[in-house]
Amino acid sequence: MKKDLVSILDVKDEIEEIIDLAIKIKEDSSEPRLKGKWLAMIFEKPSARTRVSFDVGISKLGGHSIFLGMEEIQLGKREPIQDVALVLSRYVDIIVYRAFKNENVYELARNATVPVINGLDDKEHPCQVMADLMTIKEKKGELNKLNFAFIGDGNSNMAHSYLLGCAITGMNIKIISPKKYWPSSYYIKKAEEIARKGDSKIEIIEDVNAVSNADIVATDAWVSMGQELEREQRVKDFDGYTVDEKIMSQAKPDAIFMHCMPIHYGKEVTKDIAHGKQSVIFDEAENRLWAQMAIMVKLLG
Ligand code: CP
Ligand code: NVA
Repeated sequence: MKKDLVSILDVKDEIEEIIDLAIKIKEDSSEPRLKGKWLAMIFEKPSARTRVSFDVGISKLGGHSIFLGMEEIQLGKREPIQDVALVLSRYVDIIVYRAFKNENVYELARNATVPVINGLDDKEHPCQVMADLMTIKEKKGELNKLNFAFIGDGNSNMAHSYLLGCAITGMNIKIISPKKYWPSSYYIKKAEEIARKGDSKIEIIEDVNAVSNADIVATDAWVSMGQELEREQRVKDFDGYTVDEKIMSQAKPDAIFMHCMPIHYGKEVTKDIAHGKQSVIFDEAENRLWAQMAIMVKLLG
């Protein structure tokens, strides 16, 4: 049966294996493990990292890619998602889809006969969290028992993905966010279910001064793609949640700072922190490439 990566939950039992494969491919990427395979990339939103890293990644593996922007396919508008899924499955071996709606990624995956990878939607960003977990493993040596603090929009795709990713890998996670932006109950429930089986702790709080003990401090945009009309309100609501020197100094002295990028300097984080000595943002961006190569290898068997 084909396997998709719509949610990080889809690879719950294989996360560590994928991270280790990504680290191995990073050390030696000369093997053309996906020779002759074709990747279709459907993007409904802008992208630098996701688009370029998938494109370069499939080429390094010996395969090819075709990019389909919103103008080309117009999923659900020009043609139903089901038809596009069935047609593309006759041409390509794997599909990446960056969508406005999480349910559309599920619909594409349900109907395609080839693996579908979520390239970000309104609920989750599984490829980014894979790259971030890989980066944490590289920097800290292991994931289990580390303290992860996320500050900002707790209802963002990144916050949801971190909740699941941390619970799966045994990290403790604190989501620090104004109550109005706490994660969807679905993600809290899922993460708690997983955490109960392992031993990670999950905490959702409003207090920005709760980062003490954090090994990792992460944030995400206050205004995600598709939320532009809420900008003014959101910027007001997140006032005080900027990751700055004061917040960062409460974390452990060797804590790392993470952000998936693009960054809005002076909003979710100051430039001093994002480009400071604790920041690993460019390693995260690089690791998108290696993590996604490992994901494609894994999904294509
Ligand atoms: N982090 C991330 O997904 O970046 P892009 O939006 O540029 O792809
Ligand atoms: N939460 C952000 C992530 C960008 C990579 C967004 O969805 O715009």
